[in-house]
Amino acid sequence: MELDKLFNLEGKVALVTGASRGIGRAIAKVLARAGALVNMVSRKGDLLAQLQKEIWGEGGNSCYHVANVASRGEMEEVFKKVRERHGHLHILVNNAGVSPHYLPFHETAQKDWDKMLAVNLKGTFYASYLAFPLLKAAGRGAVVNVSSIGGLIGLPRVAVYTATKGALTTFTKTLAVEWAPCGIRVNALCPGFIETDMTSGISRNEGLREELMARIPLARFGRPEEVAYATLFMVSPAASYMTGHCLVVDGGWTSW
Ligand SMILES: NC(=O)c1ccc[n+]([C@@H]2O[C@H](COP(=O)([O-])OP(=O)(O)OC[C@H]3O[C@@H](n4cnc5c(N)ncnc54)[C@H](OP(=O)(O)O)[C@@H]3O)[C@@H](O)[C@H]2O)c1
Repeated sequence: MELDKLFNLEGKVALVTGASRGIGRAIAKVLARAGALVNMVSRKGDLLAQLQKEIWGEGGNSCYHVANVASRGEMEEVFKKVRERHGHLHILVNNAGVSPHYLPFHETAQKDWDKMLAVNLKGTFYASYLAFPLLKAAGRGAVVNVSSIGGLIGLPRVAVYTATKGALTTFTKTLAVEWAPCGIRVNALCPGFIETDMTSGISRNEGLREELMARIPLARFGRPEEVAYATLFMVSPAASYMTGHCLVVDGGWTSW
């Protein structure tokens, strides 16, 4: 296949959760630039409408759905609309996630456990479950679950978050095996520290910033688009033999 076709998503229908900000926003833009029609999901319609304007302004194609990924009812509505509008889905990016605090495990509030399990895990389960018939209908599909290096190694002060991300990496591998006969590839993305709203509190804390920076051989935090390009690779024909993989984009953090 010619090089430019390897990363071309023209004619593909994609859905990205948590597309309003940060990594998900960058992924939605990059997939649209590659030619996909991108369904964008988050709870904030104003941010999605703004992103839609930007994508259309660049000549891309997108539509959006306001929904809470942790609500099965709301996600059923989203996928009903995707089925009615497009009839199938080629690409699912489970990106929506939360990490509401940065504290030792014994100080973690029950409500924060519940929120992380609901958004990071149930949100991914609902979307994957509901997307399956549509991915099958497309005849060929690619799923990316946005995990974290916290899904592979220990990260102090985010124990429950890392538990949800660890679950996503093994969930990814199991779905990769189950869905391979249907032509659906399932991979995980494991970013290191990326500068977004989620990490802005840590970035602003001089001491923590220095502590984390000392772990990163490339000596800087990552940018959302650097994660988005890795996602484009995983969902594109260029990654046609790759499934069940956890792709690390962390400036070398986990290479120590
Ligand atoms: N930043 C990092 O260093 C880093 C590192 C490793 C992994 N990750 C993972 O990357 C993903 C994106 O993180 P980020 O840094 O881009 O975070 P972010 O800037 O806080 O953005 C989070 C996104 O998730 C959406 N979201 C949160 N709860 C939701 C819900 N209940 N229903 C629907 N959408 C919801 C938000 O949209 P609304 O608020 O509009 O609903 C927003 O679009 C997460 O899964 C995170 O765990 C991030």
